Amino acid sequence: MSLLTIELLTLFPGMVEGYFRESMLARGIEAGILEINLRNIRDWAEDKHHRTDDAPFGGGAGMVMKPEPVFAAIEAVKKPESTVVYLCPDGELLTQKMASELATAKHLILLSGHYEGIDERIREKLVTREVSIGDYVLTNGTIAAAVLIDAVARYVPGVLGEEKSLTQDSFTGNLLSFPQYTRPVEYRGMRVPEVLLSGNHAEIERWRAQKRLERTRLRRPDLLNKLSQEQ
Ligand code: ADE
Repeated sequence: MSLLTIELLTLFPGMVEGYFRESMLARGIEAGILEINLRNIRDWAEDKHHRTDDAPFGGGAGMVMKPEPVFAAIEAVKKPESTVVYLCPDGELLTQKMASELATAKHLILLSGHYEGIDERIREKLVTREVSIGDYVLTNGTIAAAVLIDAVARYVPGVLGEEKSLTQDSFTGNLLSFPQYTRPVEYRGMRVPEVLLSGNHAEIERWRAQKRLERTRLRRPDLLNKLSQEQ
């Protein structure tokens, strides 16, 4: 039994197949910690043309995803403990905190929308959470779902090599990350900061904490406001 099973319902499973095979998530999948099932919503379209969309009532541009195939697809994979997430530009903004929360779920169903949207009755009846990956509009939610899966999977124990790296990530504790260096000590006249070569771990920790604050203040002062609100 995997720790987390994710069902991704989409009209374009091929868009992200290679991604899950090639990324670091493949390790978690091979180890049986993580299960990701790509499901083509079209497989649940029952009419002879396998239609999944139709014109919007009231008129207007584009097409809307029909309720029947989506209801059938979700009902086919749903369990009592499932969280059903719909990816859409008008959802709640994805954050690191949300990713860590979603990683504690046992069973996630991600629904990727297309065209001008999906029939509202799907959202009302089946969806438990609506998530956007940013204030811009994509042609469909499949890549957004892959982004969410990647961010969530990093919190599933065993998916990352070193769990420690999670605590120093950008956004953990609402701070950006600190600068990193590797060999050589000097490259094109640029030297690695001395403190990192000192072997003094307390000093290094202090330097890193200070850099995280400096960077956040400079690049994302909005995060520091969040920090003081949460304390
Ligand atoms: N579908 C289209 N745009 C999206 C976005 N920004 N986030 C999530 N799903 C989407």
